[in-house]
Amino acid sequence: MTIIVTGGAGFIGSNFIFHILKKYPDYRVICLDKLTYAGNLSTLKSVLDKPNFRFVKADICDRAAVYQLFEEEKPDVVVNFAAESHVDRSIEDPGIFLQTNIIGTATLMDACRKYKIKRFHQVSTDEVYGDLPLDRPDLFFTENTPIHTSSPYSSSKASADLLVLAYYRTYGLPVSISRCSNNYGPYHFPEKLIPLMIANALNHKPLPVYGTGENVRDWLYVEDHCKAIDLIIHKGRVGEVYNVGGHNEMTNIDIVKLICKELHMSESLITYVSDRKGHDLRYAIDPTKIHNELGWLPETKFADGIKKTIQWYLDNREWWETIISGEYQNYYEKMYGNR
Ligand code: NAD
Ligand code: DAU
Repeated sequence: MTIIVTGGAGFIGSNFIFHILKKYPDYRVICLDKLTYAGNLSTLKSVLDKPNFRFVKADICDRAAVYQLFEEEKPDVVVNFAAESHVDRSIEDPGIFLQTNIIGTATLMDACRKYKIKRFHQVSTDEVYGDLPLDRPDLFFTENTPIHTSSPYSSSKASADLLVLAYYRTYGLPVSISRCSNNYGPYHFPEKLIPLMIANALNHKPLPVYGTGENVRDWLYVEDHCKAIDLIIHKGRVGEVYNVGGHNEMTNIDIVKLICKELHMSESLITYVSDRKGHDLRYAIDPTKIHNELGWLPETKFADGIKKTIQWYLDNREWWETIISGEYQNYYEKMYGNR
C-alpha cells in the first residue's frame, strides 16, 4: 500500500505519519508538504531516513508537481491534511485559505481521478457545522447537522467538503471525509490555544484569553484522531462523512487554568483580551456513527493527554522555541500587541 499524506509536516499530519509507519511497517508513505510557516521538516526527522518514507516539498495547488508525484508513486490512498488551519489568520487574510483549502483540494482530487486512486480522504473539521449555543448542552453536531460556517477558514473547509462530495457523486471518486473536533498533543503549532498558553506560561508572558473565556471546545488527543482516520481509510464506507470527537467539552478559561496548575504557575498571568471576530461559542461532536460502524472510541482521557502534552513541550523546548523566535514574533505582535 502506498499512501500520500499531504500536510504531513504539520501538527496532525506528522502524528498520522508516525502512526502509520509504526502500525504498518510494510506501507510506503509519501509526505507532500509546501512547508508553509506551519510546516516543519524537523518534525519528521525521526522518519526521514526510513526506506519506505519520502518527503516531497510541493504545493497541493501546483497541478504539474502533484501530477508528477502521482505518476512516480502511483498511490493507492491520499489523505489530505494540507490546509491553512488557523481561524485568526483567516480573519486577517482569507485569500490563501481559499487557494489552499479549496483549489488545492480540487487539484488533488483531479490527480486522484486521473490516476484512479482507491481512496481520497479529506481531513475536515467540526467547524463546518458552525457553533452551538452555550445554554443547550443537549445539542451535538451529527453528520446531518447543516453546514453553517462562521469564519473564512471554516467556510473554505466547508467548500472543500462540498467539492469532495461532488466528485463522489459526479465522477464516482472513492472519497471519505472526517470532521474532527479540536486536537491537542505533540507538535501542535504554538499559535493555537493549548501550545500558546504552555509556551507563554513557560516564558512568564501574559496568557491572552479571548472575550470571557467561556467559549467551549471539544478536545481530542491527536493520536485518537489519527486512529480514527486509519479506521476510515481501511474500513469506512466510500462517500461517507464521519464525525470524530470524544465528548470532552471544556471552556477556554478552564483549559488555561489547568495549564497553570499543571505547570505550578500563578493564574495572575491570565489576561482577558478583545474577542475573536465572529467567535464560535461551542463545538460538540456526536461520534455515534464512527463508534457504531467502525468501533472507534477515544483512548486518551483529557487528564492524561494534557499531562503528556505539557511534558512533551517541556522535553522539546528547542522545537517550539525555534518556531517562536523567528517570523512568529511579528505575527504575535500584530495579533496580540494592542489587543
Ligand atoms: P497545521 O497548520 O499544523 O499543518 C498544516 C500543514 O499543511 C503544514 O505542514 C503546511 O506546511 C501544510 N500546507 C499548507 N498549505 C499547503 C499547500 N498549499 N500545499 C502543501 N502543503 C501545505 O494544521 P493541523 O492542525 O495539523 O491540521 C491539519 C488538517 O486537519 C487541516 O486540514 C485542518 O483543517 C484539519 N483539522 C485540524 C484540527 C485541529 O484541531 N488542529 C481539527 C480538525 C481538523
Ligand atoms: O474544531 C476544530 C478546529 O480547531 C480546527 O478546524 C482548526 O484548524 C483548529 O485551529 C481549531 O480551531 P479553534 O479556533 O477552535 O482553535 P484555537 O486553538 O485557535 O482556539 C481555541 C479557542 O481558544 C477558541 O475559542 C479561541 C480561544 N483562544 C485562542 C487563542 C489562540 C484564546 O482565547 N486565546 C488565544 O490566544
